[in-house]
Amino acid sequence: MSAGELPGEVRVLTDPIALAAAAAEWIARRCRDVERFCIAVTGGNTPHFLYEALASSTFRTSIDWQRWHVYWGDERAVLPDDAQSNYRLVVDTLLSKVPVPTEQVHRMDAERPDLQTAAADYARLLEEECGRPPRLDVVLLGLGADGHTASLFPGTAALRVDDTWATASRASYPPFERLTLTLPALNAAAHVAFLVTGDSKGAALRGVIEGTVPAARVHPADGQLLWFLDSTAARSLG
Ligand code: 6PG
Repeated sequence: MSAGELPGEVRVLTDPIALAAAAAEWIARRCRDVERFCIAVTGGNTPHFLYEALASSTFRTSIDWQRWHVYWGDERAVLPDDAQSNYRLVVDTLLSKVPVPTEQVHRMDAERPDLQTAAADYARLLEEECGRPPRLDVVLLGLGADGHTASLFPGTAALRVDDTWATASRASYPPFERLTLTLPALNAAAHVAFLVTGDSKGAALRGVIEGTVPAARVHPADGQLLWFLDSTAARSLG
Protein backbone atom coordinates (compact mmCIF):
# COMPACT_ATOMS: atom_id res chain seq x y z
CA MET A 1 0.00 0.00 0.00
CA SER A 2 1.08 3.59 -0.50
CA ALA A 3 0.15 6.97 0.92
CA GLY A 4 -1.46 7.83 -2.40
CA GLU A 5 -4.26 5.36 -1.64
CA LEU A 6 -5.44 7.41 1.33
CA PRO A 7 -8.76 9.19 0.70
CA GLY A 8 -8.52 12.88 -0.15
CA GLU A 9 -5.32 14.84 -0.76
CA VAL A 10 -1.98 13.64 0.62
CA ARG A 11 1.09 15.79 1.26
CA VAL A 12 4.30 14.04 2.36
CA LEU A 13 6.95 16.19 4.06
CA THR A 14 10.48 15.10 4.98
CA ASP A 15 10.15 15.37 8.76
CA PRO A 16 7.86 16.68 11.56
CA ILE A 17 9.34 20.19 11.40
CA ALA A 18 8.76 20.44 7.65
CA LEU A 19 5.26 19.04 8.16
CA ALA A 20 4.53 21.68 10.80
CA ALA A 21 5.69 24.48 8.49
CA ALA A 22 3.57 23.20 5.60
CA ALA A 23 0.50 22.77 7.80
CA ALA A 24 0.99 26.21 9.33
CA GLU A 25 1.15 27.80 5.87
CA TRP A 26 -1.97 25.89 4.85
CA ILE A 27 -3.82 27.07 7.98
CA ALA A 28 -2.69 30.66 7.39
CA ARG A 29 -4.18 30.48 3.89
CA ARG A 30 -7.47 29.06 5.17
CA CYS A 31 -7.64 31.90 7.69
CA ARG A 32 -7.15 34.50 4.95
CA ASP A 33 -10.15 33.00 3.09
CA VAL A 34 -12.69 33.98 5.77
CA GLU A 35 -13.49 36.88 8.10
CA ARG A 36 -14.38 34.54 10.97
CA PHE A 37 -12.01 31.58 11.16
CA CYS A 38 -13.38 28.63 13.16
CA ILE A 39 -10.78 25.97 13.90
CA ALA A 40 -10.97 22.79 16.00
CA VAL A 41 -7.55 21.87 17.36
CA THR A 42 -6.28 18.46 18.39
CA GLY A 43 -4.25 17.06 21.24
CA GLY A 44 -1.65 14.32 21.40
CA ASN A 45 2.08 14.51 20.81
CA THR A 46 2.12 15.28 17.09
CA PRO A 47 0.65 18.77 16.80
CA HIS A 48 2.94 20.67 19.18
CA PHE A 49 5.42 21.36 16.36
CA LEU A 50 2.55 22.89 14.36
CA TYR A 51 1.38 25.06 17.26
CA GLU A 52 4.97 26.21 17.87
CA ALA A 53 5.31 27.03 14.14
CA LEU A 54 2.11 29.09 14.25
CA ALA A 55 3.47 30.95 17.29
CA SER A 56 6.80 31.63 15.54
CA SER A 57 7.56 35.11 14.19
CA THR A 58 6.79 33.98 10.62
CA PHE A 59 3.10 33.39 11.38
CA ARG A 60 2.59 35.27 14.66
CA THR A 61 2.98 38.55 12.79
CA SER A 62 1.22 37.58 9.54
CA ILE A 63 -1.95 35.87 10.78
CA ASP A 64 -4.96 38.01 11.79
CA TRP A 65 -5.59 36.30 15.16
CA GLN A 66 -8.69 38.44 15.79
CA ARG A 67 -10.45 36.27 13.20
CA TRP A 68 -9.76 33.06 15.15
CA HIS A 69 -12.47 31.16 17.04
CA VAL A 70 -10.86 28.12 18.65
CA TYR A 71 -12.61 24.87 19.55
CA TRP A 72 -11.28 21.46 20.54
CA GLY A 73 -11.78 18.18 18.70
CA ASP A 74 -11.58 16.33 21.97
CA GLU A 75 -10.52 16.70 25.58
CA ARG A 76 -9.55 14.45 28.43
CA ALA A 77 -11.60 14.47 31.67
CA VAL A 78 -8.90 16.36 33.56
CA LEU A 79 -8.53 19.89 34.89
CA PRO A 80 -7.42 22.50 32.35
CA ASP A 81 -4.04 22.92 34.05
CA ASP A 82 -3.36 19.16 34.04
CA ALA A 83 -0.31 18.09 32.01
CA GLN A 84 -2.61 15.73 30.06
CA SER A 85 -5.06 18.46 29.08
CA ASN A 86 -5.39 19.21 25.36
CA TYR A 87 -6.46 22.71 26.35
CA ARG A 88 -3.24 23.22 28.29
CA LEU A 89 -1.20 21.87 25.35
CA VAL A 90 -2.64 24.45 22.95
CA VAL A 91 -2.46 27.30 25.47
CA ASP A 92 1.17 26.55 26.38
CA THR A 93 2.37 26.14 22.77
CA LEU A 94 0.19 28.67 20.94
CA LEU A 95 -2.62 30.60 22.62
CA SER A 96 -0.38 32.09 25.32
CA LYS A 97 1.77 33.58 22.51
CA VAL A 98 -0.77 35.01 20.07
CA PRO A 99 -3.62 37.53 20.57
CA VAL A 100 -6.73 35.41 20.01
CA PRO A 101 -9.45 37.18 22.05
CA THR A 102 -10.12 35.05 25.14
CA GLU A 103 -13.87 35.11 24.51
CA GLN A 104 -13.12 33.40 21.20
CA VAL A 105 -11.36 30.43 22.82
CA HIS A 106 -13.90 27.71 23.64
CA ARG A 107 -12.46 25.11 25.98
CA MET A 108 -14.21 21.75 26.37
CA ASP A 109 -14.93 21.58 30.12
CA ALA A 110 -14.43 17.83 30.28
CA GLU A 111 -13.63 17.97 33.98
CA ARG A 112 -17.34 18.30 34.76
CA PRO A 113 -18.77 15.25 36.59
CA ASP A 114 -21.60 14.84 34.07
CA LEU A 115 -19.75 14.46 30.77
CA GLN A 116 -22.87 13.98 28.67
CA THR A 117 -24.30 17.30 29.89
CA ALA A 118 -20.94 18.93 29.18
CA ALA A 119 -21.06 17.40 25.69
CA ALA A 120 -24.59 18.66 25.11
CA ASP A 121 -23.55 22.15 26.19
CA TYR A 122 -20.58 22.05 23.82
CA ALA A 123 -22.79 20.86 20.96
CA ARG A 124 -25.12 23.79 21.62
CA LEU A 125 -22.18 26.20 21.65
CA LEU A 126 -21.01 24.84 18.29
CA GLU A 127 -24.46 25.40 16.79
CA GLU A 128 -24.68 28.93 18.20
CA GLU A 129 -21.20 29.78 16.93
CA CYS A 130 -20.88 27.84 13.69
CA GLY A 131 -24.43 27.02 12.59
CA ARG A 132 -26.38 23.80 12.21
CA PRO A 133 -24.67 21.68 11.21
CA PRO A 134 -21.61 23.48 12.66
CA ARG A 135 -19.41 24.52 9.74
CA LEU A 136 -15.88 24.56 11.12
CA ASP A 137 -13.42 26.03 8.63
CA VAL A 138 -10.61 23.72 9.74
CA VAL A 139 -10.56 20.59 11.88
CA LEU A 140 -7.12 19.32 12.86
CA LEU A 141 -6.93 15.61 13.70
CA GLY A 142 -4.32 13.13 14.84
CA LEU A 143 -4.34 9.40 14.19
CA GLY A 144 -3.87 6.87 16.95
CA ALA A 145 -1.96 3.64 16.36
CA ASP A 146 -5.33 1.83 16.66
CA GLY A 147 -6.90 4.10 14.07
CA HIS A 148 -8.80 6.32 16.50
CA THR A 149 -9.08 10.03 15.90
CA ALA A 150 -10.17 12.78 18.25
CA SER A 151 -11.51 10.53 21.03
CA LEU A 152 -13.44 8.24 18.71
CA PHE A 153 -11.97 4.87 19.66
CA PRO A 154 -12.62 1.51 17.98
CA GLY A 155 -15.72 -0.33 19.19
CA THR A 156 -17.07 2.53 21.31
CA ALA A 157 -20.57 3.95 21.44
CA ALA A 158 -19.27 7.41 20.52
CA LEU A 159 -18.73 6.15 16.96
CA ARG A 160 -22.46 5.50 16.63
CA VAL A 161 -23.59 8.96 17.78
CA ASP A 162 -25.21 10.53 14.72
CA ASP A 163 -27.66 13.05 16.19
CA THR A 164 -25.40 15.58 17.88
CA TRP A 165 -22.03 17.29 17.53
CA ALA A 166 -20.26 16.26 20.75
CA THR A 167 -20.46 13.31 23.10
CA ALA A 168 -18.83 11.66 26.10
CA SER A 169 -16.48 8.87 25.11
CA ARG A 170 -14.08 6.35 26.53
CA ALA A 171 -10.45 5.88 25.55
CA SER A 172 -8.46 2.65 25.59
CA TYR A 173 -5.72 4.29 27.66
CA PRO A 174 -5.73 6.86 30.48
CA PRO A 175 -7.28 9.36 30.85
CA PHE A 176 -10.12 7.03 29.99
CA GLU A 177 -13.00 9.49 30.21
CA ARG A 178 -13.17 11.91 27.30
CA LEU A 179 -15.29 14.48 25.52
CA THR A 180 -15.14 14.37 21.73
CA LEU A 181 -16.64 15.84 18.60
CA THR A 182 -18.74 13.26 16.80
CA LEU A 183 -18.39 12.04 13.22
CA PRO A 184 -21.26 14.27 12.06
CA ALA A 185 -19.41 17.29 13.45
CA LEU A 186 -16.13 16.31 11.82
CA ASN A 187 -17.83 15.55 8.51
CA ALA A 188 -19.64 18.91 8.45
CA ALA A 189 -16.33 20.78 8.29
CA ALA A 190 -15.01 22.69 5.29
CA HIS A 191 -11.47 21.35 5.69
CA VAL A 192 -10.22 18.37 7.73
CA ALA A 193 -6.47 17.85 8.03
CA PHE A 194 -4.85 14.79 9.61
CA LEU A 195 -1.35 15.23 11.00
CA VAL A 196 0.56 11.91 11.08
CA THR A 197 4.24 11.38 11.84
CA GLY A 198 6.53 8.54 12.88
CA ASP A 199 6.72 4.81 12.28
CA SER A 200 3.92 3.66 14.59
CA LYS A 201 0.91 4.54 12.45
CA GLY A 202 1.36 2.18 9.48
CA ALA A 203 -1.39 -0.23 10.56
CA ALA A 204 -3.74 2.67 11.31
CA LEU A 205 -3.07 4.25 7.90
CA ARG A 206 -3.72 0.89 6.22
CA GLY A 207 -6.93 0.67 8.25
CA VAL A 208 -8.01 4.03 6.82
CA ILE A 209 -7.42 2.78 3.29
CA GLU A 210 -9.26 -0.47 4.05
CA GLY A 211 -12.07 1.34 5.89
CA THR A 212 -11.64 -0.70 9.05
CA VAL A 213 -10.79 1.99 11.65
CA PRO A 214 -12.65 5.00 13.07
CA ALA A 215 -10.51 7.53 11.18
CA ALA A 216 -11.72 5.95 7.91
CA ARG A 217 -15.18 7.38 8.66
CA VAL A 218 -13.95 10.97 8.47
CA HIS A 219 -14.87 12.24 5.02
CA PRO A 220 -16.37 15.74 4.92
CA ALA A 221 -19.68 15.70 2.99
CA ASP A 222 -18.94 19.09 1.47
CA GLY A 223 -15.33 19.77 2.25
CA GLN A 224 -11.67 18.92 1.79
CA LEU A 225 -9.91 15.94 3.39
CA LEU A 226 -6.17 16.40 3.62
CA TRP A 227 -3.33 14.27 5.04
CA PHE A 228 -0.04 15.75 6.20
CA LEU A 229 2.39 12.85 6.60
CA ASP A 230 6.08 12.90 7.30
CA SER A 231 8.21 10.55 5.19
CA THR A 232 8.54 8.05 8.05
CA ALA A 233 4.78 7.71 8.37
CA ALA A 234 4.40 7.44 4.61
CA ARG A 235 7.04 4.69 4.48
CA SER A 236 5.38 2.83 7.39
CA LEU A 237 2.39 2.23 5.13
CA GLY A 238 4.54 -0.41 3.41
C1 6PG B 1 -5.74 13.11 22.08
C2 6PG B 1 -5.91 13.29 20.60
C3 6PG B 1 -5.79 11.95 19.94
C4 6PG B 1 -4.49 11.99 19.20
C5 6PG B 1 -4.11 10.62 18.69
C6 6PG B 1 -2.73 10.67 18.06
O1 6PG B 1 -6.51 13.66 22.86
O2 6PG B 1 -4.76 12.43 22.42
O3 6PG B 1 -6.99 13.96 20.24
O4 6PG B 1 -6.82 11.65 19.03
O5 6PG B 1 -4.60 12.89 18.11
O6 6PG B 1 -4.10 9.74 19.81
O7 6PG B 1 -1.84 11.05 19.07
P1 6PG B 1 -0.28 11.35 18.73
O8 6PG B 1 -0.32 12.59 17.90
O9 6PG B 1 0.32 11.56 20.09
O10 6PG B 1 0.23 10.17 18.01
